[in-house]
Amino acid sequence: MNSRDYSYFANIPYSIIREISEKVLEINKRSSEDNKVIDLSLGQNFLGDPSVILRAIKWLNNKGKMDPILYEPSLGSIEVRESIAKVFYPYFYDFPSGVIDGNNVMITDGAFGAVRNALGAIFRPGDILVVDRVTFRYFIHSLIAIGRVMPKTVPYIISSDETTGFVAKPDQVIDILERLKNEYPDRNIVYYTQFGFNPTGCYRTSKDLKEIANYIEEEKNLFLINDIAYHLVRWGSKDIPLASVLADEGAGIVDADSLSKPFGLMGVRVGALITRDEDLFKYAARIQQYTIVSPNKLAVDAWRVISSKEMLPSIKAYLDEQVKMIRENYKLFTKGLQELGFGLCKEGQGTIYAFMRVSEDASILWRKMLEEAKVAVVPATAFTDPRDIVGKKFIRVTISVKKELLEKSVERIKNFMQKKGI
Ligand SMILES: Cc1ncc(COP(=O)(O)O)c(C=O)c1O
Repeated sequence: MNSRDYSYFANIPYSIIREISEKVLEINKRSSEDNKVIDLSLGQNFLGDPSVILRAIKWLNNKGKMDPILYEPSLGSIEVRESIAKVFYPYFYDFPSGVIDGNNVMITDGAFGAVRNALGAIFRPGDILVVDRVTFRYFIHSLIAIGRVMPKTVPYIISSDETTGFVAKPDQVIDILERLKNEYPDRNIVYYTQFGFNPTGCYRTSKDLKEIANYIEEEKNLFLINDIAYHLVRWGSKDIPLASVLADEGAGIVDADSLSKPFGLMGVRVGALITRDEDLFKYAARIQQYTIVSPNKLAVDAWRVISSKEMLPSIKAYLDEQVKMIRENYKLFTKGLQELGFGLCKEGQGTIYAFMRVSEDASILWRKMLEEAKVAVVPATAFTDPRDIVGKKFIRVTISVKKELLEKSVERIKNFMQKKGI
């Protein structure tokens, strides 16, 4: 067979996290029940109960013949977008009415789709992506996948350290953006950041986010993509997570939201892009149209349910219960591992992860934990520049699993450490 040339794509690395979880699947296929690896690698909320939303969607619960599921409008139905802006966010956060409306919201395929749409609207070949030191790094690969940067391109990094849970302070962010802006006045410079951080579980404050947004909105070649996927999975303060709302006018500012994690809806792909920048919105809409055509009806109706006035009290009660369970798990796990000599990065305030400091090289340790302790975790190298020493000092553990499973993981890790004589 003559071989075709796929070398361009050969340069896009496979996700470390996916690789680990696929290895677990492979091992578990051949293992007895007792010996199966406990998978704490993928960022999934195994405790979520989407029935709080899905039971309220009539067509989904109809018995008998169903109507066809038609294409949604390209950005989702306008009345749902309107209620996301005017009912859903104001229910959780206190901000002046009218700051955002339905024209500032598009329903997307997850937060991932929202970030993709925003990057697609902003990014030209040669433009610059700036990310935090420890962060969800998939989007540089998305840019490679959509052909906007060459394979092997690396993002610029904003430095930060463990004392802040690797959440860069506004002066650190502004410093590097200012430097890049002066050095590359003709390029667009996009800062992708998070409000609640995967993998550390730490959150930025509204005050710091506002300072960053206010600086960026004044500079015509700077952009902010603020990923708020974990704003509802939070036990710390209930600061406003939306940079679009905190900004004065919001030029160049985008928020990417998701229902994946709070409601255990990862596989349905439900997200939203929010921006007050009209041009950015218009071009992000084109990316959506020519990639996914329209959001799926289930995603639109999930948003319809959770942004309806009648449903919000029960949604809030559900969220309180979820967050309580996840917080208890976080405490149980971090306490258990601290007793075994693991360190805790700055105390988390939410998300579904524990970020633990290890005394061995994490890029080797995860494999030993998988093979010997039968617990799958992710080395922090999945979230850092490959050359960054921090990647070898931490592991990320998904703690949103049944409590008994987490207890069993702690037990297994304890036996593993004892065997090693630590
Ligand atoms: C920070 C962050 N953003 C986005 C995503 C993707 O979320 P979604 O399922 O909404 O696309 C994840 C998934 O783990 C994440 O951790």
